[in-house]
Amino acid sequence: MSSTNRLRIAIQKSGRLSKDCQSLLKQLGVKLNLREERLIAHSTNMPIDVLRVRDDDIPGLVMDGVCDLGIVGENVLVEAQAERLKGGQPAEVEKLSSLDFGYCRLALAWPQELGPQSKSWFQGKRIATTYPQILKNYLKAENINAQVVVLTGSVEVAPRAGLADAICDLVSTGATLEANGLMQGDTILESNACLIKNPTMSCPDKAALINKLLPRLKGVRQAKE
Ligand code: PRP
Ligand code: ZN
Ligand code: MG
Repeated sequence: MSSTNRLRIAIQKSGRLSKDCQSLLKQLGVKLNLREERLIAHSTNMPIDVLRVRDDDIPGLVMDGVCDLGIVGENVLVEAQAERLKGGQPAEVEKLSSLDFGYCRLALAWPQELGPQSKSWFQGKRIATTYPQILKNYLKAENINAQVVVLTGSVEVAPRAGLADAICDLVSTGATLEANGLMQGDTILESNACLIKNPTMSCPDKAALINKLLPRLKGVRQAKE
């Protein structure tokens, strides 16, 4: 079993960030014995354990100090922070670095056949999303009174299924919107993957290890420029 003095890093188990997270760790010199079915991978050359979890769980794991570091999309981080603040829970993380992968945008979209629409069209409409807090904050700021329908997946089929009039979902290539006959509207949030840290982590050994990894991260980024 892992002991507590090993640095714990949470990454996405399967999804848009997993491959890039694994290659980043490799480029940082962290050797891992990854086995598909395992939740935890112990590094063979550094006191590091990598936890592979659902991306939505990563901010909470880092905020609560269950993991010291996490790699997560800003979209997931911002939503989790808003959700926690609402519930009066600690929501702080230290953002160590923005990463150059996982770019996507959270955007509004509606059935193509309706043609272009302005913001006022959303008044009184139902909007399906996996990001209710970000969407609600946006609607409030824009003075739009709309109903937010929370779906954890398959958001793009909501209009066709009659569950909502429009959606607010992640767009990367735009292929999903196109395949579902949806037209893209305003971007609510732009997002990249980022490296986050528990702000109260106080173990000097872990801090020293992070200080060893950060210059390497900078080196990897510069090499790509
Ligand atoms: C997002 C989003 C769309 C898709 C858009 O899902 O929900 O389904 O990506 O990408 P595209 O514009 O390249 O087609 P994601 O892969 O993040 O999975 P998740 O919704 O299960 O988290
Ligand atoms: Zn172990
Ligand atoms: Mg997800």
